[in-house]
Amino acid sequence: MWISFVLLFGLVFHRLNCGYDRNNAATGIKLSTNDELSVSASNAFLNFGVVINPFNSSTKDIHKHCNVGYMSPDYFVHSIAVIGAANNGTNRKLFMFAFAAEITTKSTLFICLVTVSRSTCNAQHQMTVLHSADKPQNYFLIGVDSHATFVYGFTSTMAFKLEIATNQIVQKLTLETLWPSIIFLPHAFSVSDQWAVVVGYSLKHNSEKKNYAIMECLIDLVSLISYSCETLIVESTYLVPSNLLSYNERYEVSVAIRDENVLVGIHRLNTIVILKKNQTSLTKTHVYTVTSSSLTSFGRLVGWVDERTIAVVAYHSLYSPWSQSQIFFYDKNSVSSTSPLYTFPNNQQTIGNQLFQPHFVRLVITNNGNLALLTDYSLVIIVPVAPINHASMWVEPSAAAFVFYYSPMPCIGGTFKNESGLGPCTVCLPGTRNRGIAYSEGTSCISCSRNNSNSYCSLAALVEFDLNTMTSHSQVTAYPESADTTNFDDILLENMFQTDSNFSCMIISPFFWTIIAGAFAFSVWIMMAVIKLGKWEQCNRYRTWIKTILIHTDLIREGQRWVGGLATIAIIILVSFACWFCASFLKRYPIEEIFEPVNFACDSTLINAKFSTGLDLLAIPKSTDAQRIINLLDNQIFNITVELINTGFTCESISVQENLIGIQYANLIPSCERSEWNAVTSITFALPYHYATIQLNMTGPHWANAVRVCLRGESQIILNTILHVLDFCQLFSAPNQTLAHASKIPFTITKIINITKSMEKTRPITYSGLWLSSVHGALLFNEAFYTEFGNYLRYTFALTTIRITFDERSFYIKNIQEPIVRTRETVFQALLFTSLVIELFGFSFLLVKLLILPIIRRILAICHKYPVETQSFN
Ligand SMILES: *[C@@H]1O[C@H](CO)[C@@H](O)[C@H](O)[C@H]1NC(C)=O
Ligand SMILES: *[C@@H]1O[C@H](CO)[C@@H](O)[C@H](O)[C@H]1NC(C)=O
Ligand SMILES: *[C@@H]1O[C@H](CO)[C@@H](O)[C@H](O)[C@H]1NC(C)=O
Ligand SMILES: *[C@@H]1O[C@H](CO)[C@@H](O)[C@H](O)[C@H]1NC(C)=O
Ligand SMILES: *[C@@H]1O[C@H](CO)[C@@H](O)[C@H](O)[C@H]1NC(C)=O
Ligand SMILES: *[C@@H]1O[C@H](CO)[C@@H](O)[C@H](O)[C@H]1NC(C)=O
Ligand SMILES: *[C@@H]1O[C@H](CO)[C@@H](O)[C@H](O)[C@H]1NC(C)=O
Ligand SMILES: *[C@@H]1O[C@H](CO)[C@@H](O)[C@H](O)[C@H]1NC(C)=O
Ligand SMILES: *[C@@H]1O[C@H](CO)[C@@H](O)[C@H](O)[C@H]1NC(C)=O
Ligand SMILES: *[C@@H]1O[C@H](CO)[C@@H](O)[C@H](O)[C@H]1NC(C)=O
Repeated sequence: MWISFVLLFGLVFHRLNCGYDRNNAATGIKLSTNDELSVSASNAFLNFGVVINPFNSSTKDIHKHCNVGYMSPDYFVHSIAVIGAANNGTNRKLFMFAFAAEITTKSTLFICLVTVSRSTCNAQHQMTVLHSADKPQNYFLIGVDSHATFVYGFTSTMAFKLEIATNQIVQKLTLETLWPSIIFLPHAFSVSDQWAVVVGYSLKHNSEKKNYAIMECLIDLVSLISYSCETLIVESTYLVPSNLLSYNERYEVSVAIRDENVLVGIHRLNTIVILKKNQTSLTKTHVYTVTSSSLTSFGRLVGWVDERTIAVVAYHSLYSPWSQSQIFFYDKNSVSSTSPLYTFPNNQQTIGNQLFQPHFVRLVITNNGNLALLTDYSLVIIVPVAPINHASMWVEPSAAAFVFYYSPMPCIGGTFKNESGLGPCTVCLPGTRNRGIAYSEGTSCISCSRNNSNSYCSLAALVEFDLNTMTSHSQVTAYPESADTTNFDDILLENMFQTDSNFSCMIISPFFWTIIAGAFAFSVWIMMAVIKLGKWEQCNRYRTWIKTILIHTDLIREGQRWVGGLATIAIIILVSFACWFCASFLKRYPIEEIFEPVNFACDSTLINAKFSTGLDLLAIPKSTDAQRIINLLDNQIFNITVELINTGFTCESISVQENLIGIQYANLIPSCERSEWNAVTSITFALPYHYATIQLNMTGPHWANAVRVCLRGESQIILNTILHVLDFCQLFSAPNQTLAHASKIPFTITKIINITKSMEKTRPITYSGLWLSSVHGALLFNEAFYTEFGNYLRYTFALTTIRITFDERSFYIKNIQEPIVRTRETVFQALLFTSLVIELFGFSFLLVKLLILPIIRRILAICHKYPVETQSFN
């Protein structure tokens, strides 16, 4: 029983509505707007939404909205045309619009003038029946001329002209009379003051090729005659007539007029055509076809912003997460996929979720340049023109409504706008800055003072930034290299017999002091000789006494000669220096504990350490101690700090996630700080584990001039194993560029392990470890992308991301430090050196005895032969 009732009801309902798609807002003209009034129609809700003064954002402007219901539920409205204030604008309390509709039960076409009272929303209707048809109309288009005196309309079969003041049809004719030589199917229609353009599909009666072509016709509105009809595009394929006769989205066209210019959009071919009126015909000036992988249906809707700027709607645009269609604004002389001046929506002018990512089905740009849009859910978007240094931005609606407003707001930080218009604010050029409304400096870009040579005012700058306050730094230094000689014998000899004329060097040179001692010994010897020769008896006693002492101290000839005793003084000095050197040299290990320069040798960098460095594979098994430092390194917790420099992104707009497999992710809780005066936002978070891939999501229409990334970790000491504090920062900046919308920072980390052997062989070896981090191939600035794909893309991304990845090398750097000599070896070396010195002196005595003394004796003998001459010489 129930089922059959439902079926019956469904059948009746279907009969009634056959051919009338009440939910499709795209057919006909369901939104009409001028600067005074905006009216949209919804056949599903049987309602007109009327907005008075739609583009006045003043909050004082009350009584804006009226809902005017259809008089009867069997009305089906095809088109609306707003007229504006009634009574020629003298009275701003009554507003008028016209609609073209059909009574669905009788297929009767009528036109109706509606007068709405602003204060009460009461509506008066003046209805004029046109004719009855036998089937639903596919197209029933109307328009009002710019003086608001007549309503003009086209159905599938006829054209008419209705005088608004008198509500009289003054002219009515069939399409055959209007276009005698062709069959014309009007699809779109736009009215100027005294002329109109109709675009549709037509077939020439007498042409051999029976193929429809897309054609524009220029109509004189005064006498309602067709001036001329021209084919817009030569079709390359056969157009199936049934597709053109009934409504088919794919074959829709759009047309807009501004002054003498006409713009036609043919989205099936991704083409727009610009024409210019020339008396009684239209001349094609530009034909643009824009095909790009990132959009389809280019030209679905078109409009004129001003005489130079056009607006074109395309569907399925890649770069708009807020809507499925996007408006591209172009200079009419330059239309290509990369040349849009700006788009709507964009990241400054977003569309709220309340509109369900809409398609735009109707676009109107008023004479003053204001924009109204109708979405596929019959919702209306109102975007007023914004003055200089303002952009119209989304206003969060306070209550559910069918109309959504944008309102002019001052430009955000880092941007400006030097012309009034619909678009977003554009980035400050290099060398200029704008703090935005957070500061009362104004909302335009001002020049940077450049007082400071480091001042950095890149693209989209908020403040003048000194990059020297945020520098890169790394803890890694080159591992020292061993000195040329790592043999202690060599080092000892080299330093003992140091001959350097530098005074500070000489004063600590053992050789120098030995020579002094030698000189002293020589003078003693001379004295002794003089005493002996002079035969001073009283001094002889002392001489014998000294001689006895010296004989006892003779190390060279084992107490045989007193002269050896004299040389012993020099030996003692040399050996004392050697002992001092050895003792001091021993203390110069390890290098980490040496803070003072050498004071016992000439080479101030002298050190008791030799170094070796190399790479070792992590995969090779390690000793327990070595494994401990590797574990410590692997378990060190990394804190990452990302500092966005000269940016408008605030803490609220940044989130951090760890990317898991696929598109899954886990949220991380960062700590964030915003320093408003220098426009730096810094986010710190701990890395969950070393190879995590981290993504920073930054929402909003902002940029950054530079980015610094820091990696920090705490130190840890277990027994003889030391994990060092990690502190690495890298600054990324590029002149005249901003942070790209998707950047990546790939970290490469490598373990560095210092192995320090101890002074005593029995003591344990010290291991210390540090992470060497570096960034190779970071991609943070991408001006080339905007150059290649269009500058407008700067304003299209809802999300800016930075992806940080980590990769560890499969080897580590192994540095080994060990002492050149250990304590015991030194003692032995010192002993060896002492005996060497004694031997050396003994050798020199031998030399004296065998070589020099005979010569002296010989000379003396010669002297004694000739004593007189010798004396006379004195
Ligand atoms: C907007 O409306 C308010 C109040 O009705 C009026 O004072 C103001 O002049 C209007 N602004 C514009 C630009 O029309
Ligand atoms: C409307 O007003 C304009 C001037 O404001 C005038 O030129 C025009 O004739 C008027 N039209 C009517 C129908 O009164
Ligand atoms: C206007 O059209 C006429 C012919 O119809 C042509 O001679 C003339 O050059 C055109 N003028 C312009 C500005 O295109
Ligand atoms: C606005 O600035 C642009 C450069 O950003 C310039 O090309 C244009 O001429 C300026 N417009 C006005 C009205 O100053
Ligand atoms: C630059 O110099 C001007 C005057 O010469 C001064 O007013 C301004 O504060 C200076 N700016 C900076 C950032 O030092
Ligand atoms: C002497 O050596 C010291 C330290 O080794 C150095 O500071 C000084 O410049 C040197 N003087 C000369 C004249 O070479
Ligand atoms: C970050 O952006 C990605 C898109 O790139 C998105 O899938 C993800 O949900 C965002 N994460 C957060 C925490 O908002
Ligand atoms: C790392 O971050 C944690 C918590 O955010 C903090 O307690 C710790 O001190 C930080 N470590 C370093 C080295 O900054
Ligand atoms: C950056 O822009 C400024 C001003 O436009 C210009 O003088 C400078 O040469 C540019 N620098 C680079 C590296 O392009
Ligand atoms: C290794 O030793 C060198 C030289 O003293 C030092 O600069 C470096 O920081 C040390 N590295 C580690 C991991 O201890």
